[in-house]
Amino acid sequence: MRHISSLCFAILLLIVSFKALAEVDVTTGLVNAPGFEFVKSQCTICHSGSLIVSQRLGEKDWIRMIRWMQEEQGLWSLGELEEPILRYLTKHYGVSVNVNRRRKPLNKNIFSME
Ligand code: HEC
Repeated sequence: MRHISSLCFAILLLIVSFKALAEVDVTTGLVNAPGFEFVKSQCTICHSGSLIVSQRLGEKDWIRMIRWMQEEQGLWSLGELEEPILRYLTKHYGVSVNVNRRRKPLNKNIFSME
């Protein structure tokens, strides 16, 4: 009986990890979710997706980043793709995305004798 339940657990783990893998596109490193195709086609031409993955910006700062690339780096007008691209960027690479899953630091006084 114990064997069966650990086998079930292993299978469950496999399913969960495959699901997590499927969410990230291997070639770009970007999350594969609505809007991904637009970002892939417009944003991974001059540089890799890792520049995007390493950022956490709010919507205003993503707009600023896009304008900067348009003014300084030769990025074209995104037209009606800008809205879904922005939605994708703020959802998956926004400031509220928690990349640091560590717990809060312990209270500094934890070792004091008082
Ligand atoms: C026409 C070329 C071009 C396209 C297309 C382009 N970028 Fe960039 N982007 C650049 C250049 C050039 C840099 C600066 C790279 C460097 O610092 O080495 C850059 C830098 C970045 C950075 C990093 C900025 C930093 O401070 O490190 C991010 C994030 C970024 N781009 C996101 C995007 C997104 C999102 C799109 C799609 C909307 C996009 N890029 C499309 C040219 C482009």
